[in-house]
Amino acid sequence: MKLLVTGGCGFIGTNFVYLMSKRHPDWTIINLDKLTYAGNRLNMLPLEKKPEYHFVHGDICDPEIVSSTIEEFGVDAVVNFAAESHVDRSINDPSPFITTNIQGAQNMMECARRAGIERFVHVSTDEVYGTLEMDDPAFTEETPLAPNSPYSASKASADFFARAYFETYNFPVCITRCSNNYGPYQFPEKLIPLMFIKANAGEKLPVYGDGQNVRDWIYVDDHCTGVELTLLRGTPGKAYNFGGASELSNIDLVRRLLKQMGKDESLITYVKDRPGHDRRYAMNFELAEKELGFTPEYSFEEGLSKTLEWYKNNSQWLEKVRSGAYRDFMDKWYGERQ
Ligand code: NAD
Ligand code: TYD
Repeated sequence: MKLLVTGGCGFIGTNFVYLMSKRHPDWTIINLDKLTYAGNRLNMLPLEKKPEYHFVHGDICDPEIVSSTIEEFGVDAVVNFAAESHVDRSINDPSPFITTNIQGAQNMMECARRAGIERFVHVSTDEVYGTLEMDDPAFTEETPLAPNSPYSASKASADFFARAYFETYNFPVCITRCSNNYGPYQFPEKLIPLMFIKANAGEKLPVYGDGQNVRDWIYVDDHCTGVELTLLRGTPGKAYNFGGASELSNIDLVRRLLKQMGKDESLITYVKDRPGHDRRYAMNFELAEKELGFTPEYSFEEGLSKTLEWYKNNSQWLEKVRSGAYRDFMDKWYGERQ
């Protein structure tokens, strides 16, 4: 298999590329990434020496780079992770979300369709379904899309384009919709790595609103397995939900994190709520269990302790990302080699 992965220098993409190169050493993986603030090519240093891995610096919105990459490497299948992924940034400025998450996703499908690609996985999110009340049943794939943030609106638009590409052109696209991921290499603007950094530094931990918003947390490798199963076994035209069966309120999560780190709860501070803050996400992933054989492997306790251990052992990674020094380092490292 010659697999084109987009956004492979981001959080989930990095974990996916590592997992796939371990599970499928015979696959060739081509990683197309624009290297936005969230993309760190240094994550991939150990793989860059391998002939089965290739990096292409490019934008998913650019038809020339996408088409020439597909042609040059003889790509068989595509997994589209590349996106602007942070809700708070989308509230500050929705426009890059429209460009990458909608136009970029459509461009990826169009280039893949023209090249006759027979397998395309578009990575979406549970956030496209909107929000739940505490006693509502979990989202299924039949739940109508009702996005509430500019981020989720852009992701929902791409899902509609995927649906339209299947219905109109019989383009073999599957959609994955997963809940909140956590694990190694997550950019420290997201809840868990942000709270880890702040707790370590003895700084206040900012919990939005009343802290009662609920998310379903999944360890990143379980999401990657869901994407892998969709790639290998998914029915074209279908969407699949994935979740970790670990619903937690934000305040409960932050308390558990502090406990595991041996830090005091007095660090918690409640701050102004996020506008349009979705109250609860919960996933029904029976379809993926039945059709793909998916089950999340990690409990939240196991996943959290693996994650905190990774951040503890990779404080230099975290520091470089936090300070932005990874960008200078990346320019210097690759600048000298190209
Ligand atoms: P991330 O922000 O950590 O990484 C995004 C990656 O995409 C970066 O490497 C960035 O450089 C790259 N990128 C951005 N714009 C690009 C462009 N125009 N062209 C090429 N590359 C570009 O994101 P993540 O958390 O790894 O999320 C990956 C995907 O999974 C996204 O589609 C996101 O919507 C989806 N998702 C994320 C979560 C989560 O909890 N993080 C949950 C469900 C779904
Ligand atoms: P986040 O990691 O941004 O993911 P998402 O918004 O995609 O679910 O946030 C997870 C939850 O944590 C969300 O309910 C917002 C909340 N949150 C805080 O309370 N404080 C913070 O500093 C951040 C970044 C998030």
